[in-house]
Amino acid sequence: MPEPRTFRDHPVSFVRRSGRMSEGQERAWAELSPTYFFDVPRAVASTSVHPDARFVPADEFGRDGRFVVEIGSGQGHAIIHAASTHPDTDFLAVEVFRAGLARTMLDADAAGVRNLRLVEANAPEVLEVLLPEGAADEVWIFFSDPWHKKKHTKRRMIRPGFGATAGRALRDGGLLRLATDWEDYARQMRDVLDAAPEFERAFDGDWAERFDGRIMTAFERKGIEKGRDIRDLVYRRVARG
Ligand SMILES: C[S@@+](CC[C@H](N)C(=O)[O-])C[C@H]1O[C@@H](n2cnc3c(N)ncnc32)[C@H](O)[C@@H]1O
Repeated sequence: MPEPRTFRDHPVSFVRRSGRMSEGQERAWAELSPTYFFDVPRAVASTSVHPDARFVPADEFGRDGRFVVEIGSGQGHAIIHAASTHPDTDFLAVEVFRAGLARTMLDADAAGVRNLRLVEANAPEVLEVLLPEGAADEVWIFFSDPWHKKKHTKRRMIRPGFGATAGRALRDGGLLRLATDWEDYARQMRDVLDAAPEFERAFDGDWAERFDGRIMTAFERKGIEKGRDIRDLVYRRVARG
């Protein structure tokens, strides 16, 4: 039998940082992970997803509400803001940066947020394997690493084929929201998704309006300081045939 395919066939879109956490972050991990953290069964690598692993939102949250996934949630600023202002919606933060996940748990706890779970895993595998098909109402990817050097652009997460990956996790009519400060990557995202049969544009003109549910993060501020335009995009999952 052939070996199961994994996303490790492709270069991943991240380089794992040392993962060293401060004492406070270690404590947060120990105390808060039972509340927030979903421990993903692994396949080949420490951020992989085992083919049988499943995150079923209704089981995790004890209700069948709206469900939003943020990919590359960083320090968690955007998702904690969203979760605390939308208690009726359930949120999943997907990150490979451990210290960022610890920070997210600390801030979520301080804000009294309970409609949030975190996974430490390679995001395309979360979308392709961990989530049930059509589980998400929205998928957000804000300031995805641009890999701006030409020899590295193959590491970009939103590359040909990503439409099928995100389209699997979204319900019909669900939304994929993107933002970036890197013009060349913004164009690549638009080209990839315009060509994806799973999606249609949900904006008029060249770029989408700024998503008003997206708060300013350090990455956006840095982009603005460097004089870059911030590009938003939003695509709608077309109905499955
Ligand atoms: C440039 S940062 C942006 C963080 C956050 N969205 C913000 O706007 O502040 C990109 C984040 O995506 C995460 N990331 C990159 N590739 C990923 C992957 N394949 N799976 C999960 N997280 C990923 C990185 O660890 C990093 O924290």
